[in-house]
Amino acid sequence: MSKVGVSHASWDTYRDIEISFKVNGKEVKVKVKPYERLIDVLRNKLGLVSVKGGCGRGECGACVVIMNGKLIPTCLTLAVRADGSEVLTLEGIAPEGKLHAIQKALLDTYAMQCGFCFPGVIMTSKYLLDKNPNPSEDEIKEVLDGNLCRCGSYLRFVKAVKLASKYINEGKIFFDESEVMR
Ligand code: FES
Ligand code: FES
Repeated sequence: MSKVGVSHASWDTYRDIEISFKVNGKEVKVKVKPYERLIDVLRNKLGLVSVKGGCGRGECGACVVIMNGKLIPTCLTLAVRADGSEVLTLEGIAPEGKLHAIQKALLDTYAMQCGFCFPGVIMTSKYLLDKNPNPSEDEIKEVLDGNLCRCGSYLRFVKAVKLASKYINEGKIFFDESEVMR
């Protein structure tokens, strides 16, 4: 009992809930607490460490993934909400040993600096290009507006999405790692 007469339950008293969902094409079952965030389950229980923790309040875009075709901040999403859903993270955007067009374009435009924001930028760009393979510059800027990059690579991100759009329209969606940065 606290000084003000309110008893606080320990976090451990909450029962586990088993959820199942598809992540990067694979069915997974995992036990979560009702208060657990999706970012923590993806990173700590499923080892998907591309999902980065930044602001923790839906403002920086570092933690975004695609869930059921929508871009979502996993820091603001309870893990239980993923039950029955399909989640795509950076680990699942290209077959083993290949890079997605947006990854190649980011390398081609030398947009990479520290790379911390990259998983979020890549997932956001993929979300845009899946919906609209020919985005205008304004559309690119608008969708990437929620991805903060402390290294300031913003102009190169726009260039990279335009280049990825060109690759995709030429039918080049995946690249062998050997084709990158030759
Ligand atoms: S950590 Fe989720 S939006 Fe910043
Ligand atoms: S490249 Fe460093 S935060 Fe974006």
